[in-house]
Amino acid sequence: MKIIAFAGTNSSQSINLKLLKYVLEDFSDYEINLIDLNDYELPIFSEDREKAGYPDKVREFLSLFEDADAIICSMAEHNRTYSVAFKNIFDWASRIKIKIFDEKPMFLMSTSSGKGAGKFVMETANRFFPQFGADIKETYSLPMFYDNFENDGNGLTNEQEEQILKAKIKNFSQVLKLECAD
Ligand SMILES: Cc1cc2nc3c(=O)[nH]c(=O)nc-3n(C[C@H](O)[C@H](O)[C@H](O)COP(=O)(O)O)c2cc1C
Repeated sequence: MKIIAFAGTNSSQSINLKLLKYVLEDFSDYEINLIDLNDYELPIFSEDREKAGYPDKVREFLSLFEDADAIICSMAEHNRTYSVAFKNIFDWASRIKIKIFDEKPMFLMSTSSGKGAGKFVMETANRFFPQFGADIKETYSLPMFYDNFENDGNGLTNEQEEQILKAKIKNFSQVLKLECAD
């Protein structure tokens, strides 16, 4: 079973990527394809530009989800919504295929440096990703990343958050096992 994973950001120091990598450690039995949105940087989408055709990267991006059995992602919040790095490839891809996420089970996460934990981007993604083919099975948001996560240590340092996240990881793992059994 193959999992496609991405952080919804183009930051090389991404805290969402750190959270994502921490969660992926618990899915080491699976084949993981951790992509970097920097590899899908394209000119800003416009209806004028699309008249010239779609860059190859857009179809490549869509095929990643078609090839995967499940999706784990963590979304950065910029100005209460998606980062432009995510939104741009998302807009391009949606013009070829609206069900971008190809009806695959998704574990949707977010984190930010503040108390909000990226709750606005989470609300948007949780509400609208299903329209784009995401079968959201589990969600998790980590607030105050720098207070709750130790980069060079064991990852999550807040015991309560650790318990919540581990339960959600377990639940999503169960979902994947059931999918495998089908
Ligand atoms: C342009 C910009 C807008 C931001 N807007 C928000 C915001 O609306 N809510 C929030 O919690 N954090 C906001 N932040 C802080 C981000 O949560 C923080 O930069 C975080 O590290 C982004 O995730 P990443 O490290 O995975 O890219 C913003 C940061 C930038 C650069």
